[in-house]
Amino acid sequence: MKALILGGTTEAAALARLLNGHAVIEATVSLAGRTKQPVLPPLPTRIGGFGGVDGLAAHLVENGIQAVVDATHPFADQISANAAAACRKTGIPLLVLTRKPWLPGEGDRWIGVPDMDAAAEALRPLGEHVFLTIGRQEVAVFEATPDKTYLIRAVDPPEPMPNLPRHMLILDRGPFTLDGELALLAEHRIDVIVSKNSGGTATEAKLEAARRRSIPVVMVERPPGNGVAEVHDAGSALRWLEGLAGHARTP
Ligand SMILES: NC(=O)c1ccc[n+]([C@@H]2O[C@H](COP(=O)([O-])OP(=O)(O)OC[C@H]3O[C@@H](n4cnc5c(N)ncnc54)[C@H](OP(=O)(O)O)[C@@H]3O)[C@@H](O)[C@H]2O)c1
Repeated sequence: MKALILGGTTEAAALARLLNGHAVIEATVSLAGRTKQPVLPPLPTRIGGFGGVDGLAAHLVENGIQAVVDATHPFADQISANAAAACRKTGIPLLVLTRKPWLPGEGDRWIGVPDMDAAAEALRPLGEHVFLTIGRQEVAVFEATPDKTYLIRAVDPPEPMPNLPRHMLILDRGPFTLDGELALLAEHRIDVIVSKNSGGTATEAKLEAARRRSIPVVMVERPPGNGVAEVHDAGSALRWLEGLAGHARTP
């Protein structure tokens, strides 16, 4: 059975490892091509957009794809909407593989906001030194709150580079440690962190560090889903694929 994994995440990479050399599932991974030096999965990989819903639907049909796993990032809402529409249109089964969102614990000072514009607005009363850990695509939104000192951390430089009078850029991919995050918060005298509610363990240490330092976190909540069935671990996605392929389940 031919399957397409929409990737670019730790979860997609985990599923690719499980499918490497699989007896009956022939999977391809698709990456958007945003990251300059992506960690390539151990499966055939195609890179670049499909050209919207119609382009994706045509790709699925032309390549004889019989199942799609949308393992893209929880904030990659355009490709997820496209996958939902293209699979509806072609009748191809679709599953979302996504990590669980983080939940606030005791001692957390989270300020939940629906989107990045609201995050920039929420910063106004929250201190001078801001740690932006939101990836590189939406940093320019913070030009609406320019009178802060920003520490920006991303895998690749922001595009476009923001017009912020006081900012510093750190390029790093993680995973990050608690000690490292505590040291970073202290060194840059961080008053507030801005984060997407991405979930997962690779970037979770910043939240524990914020809790220990009693630093508020402006937390951008996830965009709404598309009503597609979801699983949270690669093993469950593999079992779904194997079920479709009529393959015996692994014990
Ligand atoms: N957004 C985040 O915070 C974030 C964080 C970490 C990793 N990522 C990963 O980075 C990639 C891009 O994320 P995004 O937020 O820019 O996506 P997006 O806004 O949802 O998608 C924009 C367009 O990029 C193309 N695209 C996105 N993911 C693709 C994939 N896996 N394969 C082929 N084309 C893809 C599609 O182009 P066409 O319409 O031309 O098909 C899509 O319409 C995704 O693979 C995602 O998993 C995103």
